Amino acid sequence: MTAVETEAGNQVGDALLAWYDRHHRRLPWRMPPDQIRRGHRPDPYRVWLSEIMLQQTTVGAVKPYFDRFLQRWPTVEALAAADIDDVMKAWAGLGYYSRARNLKKCAEAVSERHDGAFPATEGALKALPGIGEYTAAAIAAIAFDRPAAVVDGNVERVITRLRAIETPLPAAKGEIREIVAALLPETRPGDFAQAMMDLGATICTPRRPSCILCPVAADCVARGRGMQELFPIKAPKAEKPTRQGAAFVAVRADGAVLLRQRPVKGLLGGMTEVPTTAWNARQDGARDAAAAPFPADWRGCGVVAHVFTHFALHLSVFRAEVEGLAAPAGHWWSAPEELLGEALPTVMKKAIEAAIPGATKARRPITQ
Ligand code: ADE
Repeated sequence: MTAVETEAGNQVGDALLAWYDRHHRRLPWRMPPDQIRRGHRPDPYRVWLSEIMLQQTTVGAVKPYFDRFLQRWPTVEALAAADIDDVMKAWAGLGYYSRARNLKKCAEAVSERHDGAFPATEGALKALPGIGEYTAAAIAAIAFDRPAAVVDGNVERVITRLRAIETPLPAAKGEIREIVAALLPETRPGDFAQAMMDLGATICTPRRPSCILCPVAADCVARGRGMQELFPIKAPKAEKPTRQGAAFVAVRADGAVLLRQRPVKGLLGGMTEVPTTAWNARQDGARDAAAAPFPADWRGCGVVAHVFTHFALHLSVFRAEVEGLAAPAGHWWSAPEELLGEALPTVMKKAIEAAIPGATKARRPITQ
């Protein structure tokens, strides 16, 4: 790297930090910069929990889950001692459920192997369940102020614009990480990481970025060329295949719904579902009432759609009123007031809603 680049790097880092001091987002897991300056550090447990929740999930969706988890399990030891079924129930709706299993395993590992104290280095963090390269860097920087290059989707957008990187993502990831490492300021790497995230989330947005408000606009090559919205360049994605299936909502007269647990391994592992067919049924195959797990007066309630990472699912939903049926092995009847607390993933809430409108919505007390 040339001396000029080094200087420019510091300029970008300094400008970002000054902007962050004034415009940082207030987030429940975040220690604001004025407190960091006074020597306070965020609780690594909060940083870790937030980073796991924020993987592939928006800040807005995470906030209520983060608050509920902290209230219920205020320390890593408390989470380590939790019942996995309770953790899965509390995670229900946040998606990517292997995160919740690994969350519990990681809490146990930190409690048992590290005496309840998260390790501070990227290497030791990466050895823990559910912590990959990005999360290790984020925790090392934010919780322990280690000079780690933290690169998420927001940061990729900021950097590809700043340097007008023509290599498409994901091939450009290595180059982006090197640039972030070179831009790290001498102090405050944790604030720098969060400043990059905030810039990407609030100013350097995917569409119509607010360059006029950007603290590093003068250094931004893409902006200089008026081409900021063309970055990042992305390799074309393969189209998602569609899978078909059927879901069967059996309802008793008292409103109880028949549920079962999905296999622990695989998609939505260990989460709760209504009985369904496999989700690969052919267009002309097992997705009608003939595929039901037991005979009943199954009535069609429409089709719900849900998009997973690797495929889109069209689930035909059927409902039947069922009396006097003992829950088959591995199944249970869930009373209406218990349904909300079950570990139902979003696709299953959609299926139950299609069969019993309002069943998965929180009931509010009726007020005058
Ligand atoms: N996205 C991922 N990690 C984040 C964090 N710590 N703050 C804000 N957004 C984030």
